[in-house]
Amino acid sequence: MSLQGAHALITGGSRGIGRGIALKLAEAGIKVAVHYYQNEAAAKDTLAEVRRRGSEGLTVQADVRQPEQIAQMFRKVRADFGKLDVFVSNARPEVPLFFQPPMDITLEQWDNAFDSQAKAFLVGVREAAPLMGRGGRIFAITYAEGSRTGSLQPWVGMGSAKAALESLVRYFAVSLARRGITVNAISPGWTEDSVLNTLPPQAQDLIRNWHTRGWTPMARLGTPADIGNVVRLFCSEEAGWVTGQVIYADGGASLMNPEVPPEIQLG
Ligand SMILES: NC(=O)c1ccc[n+]([C@@H]2O[C@H](COP(=O)([O-])OP(=O)(O)OC[C@H]3O[C@@H](n4cnc5c(N)ncnc54)[C@H](OP(=O)(O)O)[C@@H]3O)[C@@H](O)[C@H]2O)c1
Repeated sequence: MSLQGAHALITGGSRGIGRGIALKLAEAGIKVAVHYYQNEAAAKDTLAEVRRRGSEGLTVQADVRQPEQIAQMFRKVRADFGKLDVFVSNARPEVPLFFQPPMDITLEQWDNAFDSQAKAFLVGVREAAPLMGRGGRIFAITYAEGSRTGSLQPWVGMGSAKAALESLVRYFAVSLARRGITVNAISPGWTEDSVLNTLPPQAQDLIRNWHTRGWTPMARLGTPADIGNVVRLFCSEEAGWVTGQVIYADGGASLMNPEVPPEIQLG
């Protein structure tokens, strides 16, 4: 797929990691549909930054927990762009809407997690694929630590939903392979300028120190631009043989062994 003149839709592209992806794709000459839910000002600001990078785009609103609103979002994208080359499913509800341990999580919180992740991806990919030609690129932004571990108890809803999302990535990868469309999950590590910055300052300090002192071998947190660079990389024509994978973009954090203190592991 030639990046210049391609068209992308990024859910949750207004803020955080989604914004980092929008700006890196814009730098590559891709036109970007910046999706948001409640904060239109952030979406407009991101679109202004897209334009500052010499690209173009639009903003589009939807609650991705509502399939009809997803369909409406794609109708707007089709009307404006006429086609789509890149679809990134990145949006995630505010933490209190799903953050509760297994014995306490309400069914509404559970549904917020699953509807915004697995169901939104199911509906979104089925809307996106008909707009794509050969070389189309589909991404799910996951958090694979949450889908394969059970330690962060209040993450149970989102972790389970991300596991379902990663499974769907594999099924869609096979389903769309004959059409030359790749489907991959990108798994960021802890990232600055994102949901992290909404946590209490003490929690932010604990997390930052944990990573800079070695739990992330590269000794820093990621940035939205880091994740944007990875998506851009996998949009390239040369990445066309990689599909159905969970790609960790975390400075090596997922390589660490939780049974041994980082000081010993890092030598
Ligand atoms: N941050 C991290 O360290 C980290 C690590 C690993 C994976 N991830 C994953 O990366 C993705 C982005 O995370 P982030 O921290 O960058 O998010 P964020 O800064 O909290 O931004 C969330 C985005 O999702 C939108 N959104 C919220 N509720 C929505 C809904 N019901 N329907 C549609 N859109 C909705 C928001 O739009 P409005 O502002 O308009 O409401 C916003 O654009 C998520 O899938 C997350 O699981 C994040």
